[in-house]
Amino acid sequence: MGGAGLGLAAACAVATCAIATVMVAHRVRSRRRWGRAVALVREFEEACATSVGRLRQVVDAMAVEMHAGLASEGGSKLRMLLTFIDNLPDGSEEGTYYALDLGGTNFRVLQIQFSGKGSMILTHRVQRQQISQELMTGTREELFNFIASTLKQFVQREDDGIDQIPDVRKDLGFTFSFPVRQLSVSSGLLIKWTKGFSIKDAVGKDVAQCLTEAMLKTGLNMRVAALVNDTVGTLALGHYYDVDTVAAVIIGTGTNACYLERTDAIIKYQGLLTNSGDMVVNMEWGNFWSSHLPRTPYDISLDDESPNRNEQGFEKMISGMYLGEIVRRVLQRMAEESDIFPDAVQNLSVPFVIRTPLMAAMHEDDSPDLREVGKILEDHLKISGVSLKARRLLVRVCDIVTRRAARLAAAGIVGILKKIGRDGSAGVASGRTKGKPRRTVVAVEGGLYVGYSMFREYLNEAVAEILGEEVAPYVCLRVCEDGSGTGAAVLAAAYSSNR
Ligand code: BGC
Repeated sequence: MGGAGLGLAAACAVATCAIATVMVAHRVRSRRRWGRAVALVREFEEACATSVGRLRQVVDAMAVEMHAGLASEGGSKLRMLLTFIDNLPDGSEEGTYYALDLGGTNFRVLQIQFSGKGSMILTHRVQRQQISQELMTGTREELFNFIASTLKQFVQREDDGIDQIPDVRKDLGFTFSFPVRQLSVSSGLLIKWTKGFSIKDAVGKDVAQCLTEAMLKTGLNMRVAALVNDTVGTLALGHYYDVDTVAAVIIGTGTNACYLERTDAIIKYQGLLTNSGDMVVNMEWGNFWSSHLPRTPYDISLDDESPNRNEQGFEKMISGMYLGEIVRRVLQRMAEESDIFPDAVQNLSVPFVIRTPLMAAMHEDDSPDLREVGKILEDHLKISGVSLKARRLLVRVCDIVTRRAARLAAAGIVGILKKIGRDGSAGVASGRTKGKPRRTVVAVEGGLYVGYSMFREYLNEAVAEILGEEVAPYVCLRVCEDGSGTGAAVLAAAYSSNR
């Protein structure tokens, strides 16, 4: 071999070595970046931990805050609002009633005919209407005029004379799923908006009166017989079907709970008298806060950037409005600090780009190659080329967020049971008949619980875990579909002036 040949061979060897070095360095870097992504998920998982011990602390905190909220106005972040509902429906309600259900991006109008016995509903007609972003942030006049005119069209179409005498005022149940300071069963002042609504001139106003004025303008002869929160509608419908129902929980876009309380325990309204000695209390638990809640930097930044900072802390960890957004924040950080989502930083930096239903669909993808996850990333987030192991990591993030939310909601439910002596901790003295715990039903509604099976399973499992095997069989969580709409109609029937 000549000198030229030797030189060429040496140059080739050097080049091969250089390529190999670059490749090794690349692999080392990429392994390090993968390691960073895994470490971020691990850290997040640890910060979200909800051991049964921690859940029990949340249970206790919930019960303590309930006491505080009942003791004095402003005594707790739990508002514990009066509803003036002192008797719950029992299945004997009769007649045709209307309901209006406003609580999220949709509102619904309903007409329901109750048979009068045996908890039987004869007809159930519903119309759903979207609330535009403009209406959610416009004026109260625009919102209520829109609702009243939709209601009028519905009544004109559906009022076919069944059980109705012309010109007699029809009774309406109005579900308004925001915090309201009730003045009576049928009136109340809006305290604040939640869930992305922000109609400033409605705060402090009697929302039943706003609706009545709008109905009058459209020439509708209807009366608000009951103004209720969606939790209260759900409790009413739950009780209509099963008289052991003592509490109701909504886990949908927002979250909240209500339950039946003894009036003598509502210390902030001493002397409050009702025929039954009980009253339904709307807890507004979305605003619950406790240092025992496992909060992460992602929750803190979500709260900081929200329009209602330092409010609805529990809701921001639990409800459908926020779960997808928490996942997005974790993925964004992973995209910034590793290369597992190629070129995705930009797309993942758009707030609320991962809505909770998308997150749930990725979480519930049970195909071995996580095809659905890949498709959602491509179609909805315009992120392609994500490896299978990265998709697996993403599903793990969804799981962590969902599991924490479901387990915290479970602790909230057991907190209510503890407050009313149905969690087994009070012993034989209360909540027990002949040594056995009393059967207790909690009505549950909301898309997260009803439509997201992983969430539901985690929640049910955690309730049983916290209560323990002796008490858990006596506590039943019962899905109460359309409690917010049908429940308002059955309350209109129960509190009707025509009854
Ligand atoms: C509201 C509650 C409502 C809950 C569920 C919360 O944001 O404050 O009044 O019950 O959402 O819809």
